[in-house]
Amino acid sequence: MLDARPNENRDELDRITNPSAPSERAAVFNDNVIDRSPDSEANQDKSIAILTSGGDAPGMNAAIRAAVRAGLYYGYKVFGVRRGFHGLWRGDFVALKSHSVSEKLQRGGTFLMTARSKTFRTPEGLQQAADMCRVFGIDAMVVIGGDGSFQGGKTLADKGIPVICVPGTIDNDIACTEYTIGYDTAMNTAMNAIDKLRDTASSHERCSVIEVMGRHAGYLALNVGISCGAEVILIPEVEIDFDRDVIRRLLECRNLGKSHYVVVVAEGFRCDGLENAIEISNRIEQLTGIESRATILGHLQRGGSPTIRDRQVASLMGVHAIECINEGRLNRIVRMHNGKVSDIDLDEGLAMTKSIDSDEINDARIIAL
Ligand code: F6P
Repeated sequence: MLDARPNENRDELDRITNPSAPSERAAVFNDNVIDRSPDSEANQDKSIAILTSGGDAPGMNAAIRAAVRAGLYYGYKVFGVRRGFHGLWRGDFVALKSHSVSEKLQRGGTFLMTARSKTFRTPEGLQQAADMCRVFGIDAMVVIGGDGSFQGGKTLADKGIPVICVPGTIDNDIACTEYTIGYDTAMNTAMNAIDKLRDTASSHERCSVIEVMGRHAGYLALNVGISCGAEVILIPEVEIDFDRDVIRRLLECRNLGKSHYVVVVAEGFRCDGLENAIEISNRIEQLTGIESRATILGHLQRGGSPTIRDRQVASLMGVHAIECINEGRLNRIVRMHNGKVSDIDLDEGLAMTKSIDSDEINDARIIAL
């Protein structure tokens, strides 16, 4: 048995789920659900749980909210698992009622919290996580997160716990879905930051090298770069010749009369031993003589109130996850496909690969000059 002592931090959720005032108690034990599905009685002895895992993404709260309320509508008992798979093996379950997710829609982050759990990845941790699902009588688990979280969901499914995965990551790098929750907000956050950096680059006649997140993928960098009119976009999926595609290009821009430049680089980009925006910026300054500054946007891109797109997609995906469970479609990935929310078999979805549209890089080059 692994040590699963509860964390001693009393956070907001503790307050909601362990209320002390009688009025609060009354509210907690009342689902506050006005509408119920006509067949909801069939599910009254069934429980579903929801967790968020991996990096947080704006809109995760909206997805949790939708899943909780849809779950109650279909008659299920609904639990939240705090701190992702880490909380799962520790049995960190809390009952969620309709009001538990009030005022969460517009908030960034995830109120269930998230973690990257090493223990869950061990055979003992996985076994204990599956045992905890049985202890709490969980019939199906909704996993909201990125590709690593989906792999975690798959191992749980292999242990006999049915899962529904919902894509939530700012990276938009999950092959089977056109969209992941959080992507739009992160793109807007990065775009607004780069617009500001362009102002100062313009005043000082500098080159601004900006690193955006995306882990091994360049979707965020490519689309932010296009939207900010970056003179150069560097992503892991596209190999370049640094002298030709960066140095020469910037000098050509200068010779055409440009006096400031924006280079957007994905965090996963590597070239000629250059590992990050600081090294790229130094190389540019050294070889072009153009004064250059590096900015790493980092976790700034993961925070903030979700945009309308993220709220809307997250809400529809959260409901869809519960409908999968209610209709007996288990071990599925909820996805955006041809612009509509649908679902796909977990194994099939995980086996898919995604490739970037490198033509867009050329389009970006053409319009940035
Ligand atoms: O997957 C989301 C993401 O923000 C990536 O873009 C980034 O590489 C990674 O998570 C950072 O992870 P952490 O929050 O553990 O530093």
